[in-house]
Amino acid sequence: MSFTFALSSAAAALLLAVLPASSSLAQLPAKYLTEQPVRANHAMVVTIHHDATDAGLQILREGGNAVDAAVAVGFALAVVYPEAGNIGGGGFMLIRPSGRGLNGGQPVFLDYREEAPGSAGANMYLDRAGEVIPQMSITGMHASGVPGTVAGLTYAEQHFGRLGLVRVMAPAIRLAREGFVLPAQEAGDMHAGNLARFAASRRIFQRDGNFYRPGEVFRQPELAATLERIRRDPASFYHGKLAEQFAAFEAANGGMITAEDLARYRVRERRPLLGQYRGLKVLTAPPPSSGGIVLIEILNILSGYDVASLGADRSANQIHIIAEAFRRAYMDRGDYLGDPDFNRMPLEQMASQAYAAAWRRTIDPFSPTPSAKLVRPAGFLPAASTPLHPQLESSETTHFSIVDAEGNAVSSTYTLNFGFGSGVTVDPLGFLLNDEMDDFTSKVGVPNAYGLIQSSANAIAPGKRPLSAMTPTIVSEPPVCSPSGAGDRQGSSVYYVPLPANCKPGRLRLVLGSPGGSTIMTTVANDLISVVDNHLNIQAAADAPRFHHQYLPDVLQFEKAFPVATVEQMQARGYSTRRAAEFDEKSAGVWGDSELIEVDPASGELLGGHDHRHTFGKAAGY
Ligand code: DON
Repeated sequence: MSFTFALSSAAAALLLAVLPASSSLAQLPAKYLTEQPVRANHAMVVTIHHDATDAGLQILREGGNAVDAAVAVGFALAVVYPEAGNIGGGGFMLIRPSGRGLNGGQPVFLDYREEAPGSAGANMYLDRAGEVIPQMSITGMHASGVPGTVAGLTYAEQHFGRLGLVRVMAPAIRLAREGFVLPAQEAGDMHAGNLARFAASRRIFQRDGNFYRPGEVFRQPELAATLERIRRDPASFYHGKLAEQFAAFEAANGGMITAEDLARYRVRERRPLLGQYRGLKVLTAPPPSSGGIVLIEILNILSGYDVASLGADRSANQIHIIAEAFRRAYMDRGDYLGDPDFNRMPLEQMASQAYAAAWRRTIDPFSPTPSAKLVRPAGFLPAASTPLHPQLESSETTHFSIVDAEGNAVSSTYTLNFGFGSGVTVDPLGFLLNDEMDDFTSKVGVPNAYGLIQSSANAIAPGKRPLSAMTPTIVSEPPVCSPSGAGDRQGSSVYYVPLPANCKPGRLRLVLGSPGGSTIMTTVANDLISVVDNHLNIQAAADAPRFHHQYLPDVLQFEKAFPVATVEQMQARGYSTRRAAEFDEKSAGVWGDSELIEVDPASGELLGGHDHRHTFGKAAGY
């Protein structure tokens, strides 16, 4: 595969001159570099669960487009992956048409993120002394935002699908009614403590203590009935009998979501962000996700370096420059971002190349910049409006990638937030509720133990959507215009600019995304860099051990599988490091779950990379 490289900057040349050669030699273990992706000629689906992948593939084979398949996968994951797949949560779907046949050729970003209920308020998780009440925004009846998934998936089908809800929901309903065989990893996860605390969850997912064993068939008749009702009348979840039952459950159990909250919920169609990297177009998530703008800032900073010439993939020299880009982009994330319907945000300035160049000048070629000493380049961004306040982010969500036979692509990440969300199952409807309220800032101005920073742009308010890190992303070649380049204004704004009639979308290259809370953006960045700069194949990129830096805490984090020699090299440069679950032999010490597709630019073949950190997923195509 050949990608175009931008010229390396003088800084990179200097860097190469001063770095000890040995630090560029460290290399990933061969097992990561020799893995091969799944190959297909027409269409591809990659998800964390093989039954969900099969559901999507079946729909594609029946003539559905990528959106039909995505809706089928979304509903199927709600059944077979209750840890994160859901109808009681929310998420994002990025759709990129390959030509004028779908949405006139214009990409669209569906925001079906949860919303704070009408009775929510900025201080709702504080006690009388003004202290955060532990767990209140994470477990139980006060943790949930108004779910958006049913609205999002049905909207996607109605506006962009081809087959209709009846057909695309069929696999999910069958899986719920007839059951599916529980993989060992999932059966183990269903022992989760938050499920045990709520009667319906304990009954459905834990058989009242007689836990499901690996290989058993898991049936969910209540969920099947709810899905059937959604299929018959999707509006009923927000306006009809389903909404009534949901609101009655909330009222009876001290919850906050009312029939009015449900009736008010709307899917938002937003313009995706568009960045540039090594001559490629990076279509990605706008606010209320922080993911896209942070990814664009990272890539803008890195585009001034010839990353591949610094050393091998995940060698110390590469990690240093990439981690310093991470550190700087995450600093900005904390200060400015929130729900775009409630905030004005300086996204154009954050995405400017001049700003990235100014950031680059602050990067020492060898040593880390301590976060406490990091100073944002002056003259680019407005003053941060509020005090910084760190916030915990969590770690269960799911991403899937789909390309159909016409080349239309869907990249979608959706979530309950933490594993099994709030732990509460809406009885008798059989679905779990999210704990997305925890993605808001619980207490303005006061650092907590976790060190991730956010501003009052993300304070709780009725009807507001919490800031997310989810980063569904699609990479392509530039549009093809006739005459060449004429009219293509892409790059004139950080938002996607619609293509004029004389241009057609460029060839698809990558469909990317992952769960992982605050690590999502660095996982997506690492996957993209590994393929574009380092020419790893998509399977190797999905599986290679990860590193992460998020500005605060000022710690360079590594997955447990990361070569110890490299971690030690980074320590020797002055980084504080942490290897995930280093002292817990039983822990896998991993984060994220990249479910990825690459298009081989030479042959047009589709290459699927399923993340082997999870043992029950699958890339499959035809
Ligand atoms: O929207 C967010 O950023 C979080 N609620 C996502 C949580 C997550 O990725 C957990 N995943 N493993």
